[in-house]
Amino acid sequence: MSSTVITNIATLVTNDPSLGDRTPLGLVRDAAVVIDGDRIAWTGESRKAPATDNRVDAGGRTVIPGFVDSHSHLVFAGDRTEEFNARMSGRAYSAGGIRTTVAATRAATDAELEANLTRYLAEALRQGTTTFETKSGYGLTVADEARALRIAARHTEEVTYLGAHIVSPDHAEDPAAYVELVTGEMLEACAPYARWIDVFCEKGAFDGDQARAILTAGRARGLHPRVHANQLTHGPGVQLAVELDAASADHCTHLTDADVDALAGGNTVATLLPGAEFSTRAQWPDARRLLDAGVTVALSTDCNPGSSFTSSVPFCIALAVRDMGMTPDEAVWAATAGGAKALRRDDVGRLAPGARADLAVLDAPSHVHLAYRPGVPLVAQVWRKGVREV
Ligand code: NIG
Ligand code: FE
Repeated sequence: MSSTVITNIATLVTNDPSLGDRTPLGLVRDAAVVIDGDRIAWTGESRKAPATDNRVDAGGRTVIPGFVDSHSHLVFAGDRTEEFNARMSGRAYSAGGIRTTVAATRAATDAELEANLTRYLAEALRQGTTTFETKSGYGLTVADEARALRIAARHTEEVTYLGAHIVSPDHAEDPAAYVELVTGEMLEACAPYARWIDVFCEKGAFDGDQARAILTAGRARGLHPRVHANQLTHGPGVQLAVELDAASADHCTHLTDADVDALAGGNTVATLLPGAEFSTRAQWPDARRLLDAGVTVALSTDCNPGSSFTSSVPFCIALAVRDMGMTPDEAVWAATAGGAKALRRDDVGRLAPGARADLAVLDAPSHVHLAYRPGVPLVAQVWRKGVREV
């Protein structure tokens, strides 16, 4: 197995607090990273780096762990430009728009869906994302949900069954029958392709009792819960997520003190998705309140054609710093180590011996520039599993 050293790194973010400056980011200045096969073999100061076969000069740039985007909806067809335009002229966002994408997705061929997915993944990779989760939820029939997950599973191990995105238009008159389908035949068809089960717990989608039934059925079938919770209104989603030991409660925009306390006392990450508030002109989630309460916070894109059509984690970092009370250090941690925790992974989101060699080289003297220089394409290189891909 050949080894490579990336040297002359001005700032290295390891996310290992036992390294470098001993902060959560474990910052090492004048650093080097040694890669052996698909793994990190060593990180530390350049002058102490062990000898290797190959040498890459980072030119005084910054190296961070590849972004872990723990929340996206990338198996879909079509887009919703009209709806976005209407919203920017004052119309409110509603979950009902999901039906437009459901119709387009059902009408698409497998090849079209996969081509679309591949295109958004390439877009995300160019912006530094090396691990991503993605969901079904725009099919809402047994066959359409199963094919979405089958296609997703060809591209990532983090696949989420979201048959409970909204009540299928075919069951509009009988939501209970749809919940039965989601927890029965559809679950059986989807479970082989998925690691996670998710539910959109919201007015206009699924209430607390329905969400509990769906997540519990998924768990019994070996899927682990995550929840779309408290996005548009206050509701039971966050507390249900903590109660069921969901890996993550996603959105967390409308929280009571009891919701924050539940998150602080549990093992569920709060995943904030500022692309959604940006694209729906909604109130920002209060990251500061969560962090001050001791909650683990992740940042992800929620990339989908309705509420957040961005695949850019750097954009989300900039929003979180500007509008949600996060420091640049906290936001970069949340988009790397935080995303890994939201997926209950410890092999990604950090650059320490044994971790996967997934990293981004930034054309900047430090990671702070991700927020300080918003909208600027700073990602110069991306390495995944020890191979340079960008
Ligand atoms: O996470 N909240 C529900 N699902 C997506 C929106 C999907 C859509 O509008 O198509 C979200 O924001
Ligand atoms: Fe979402």
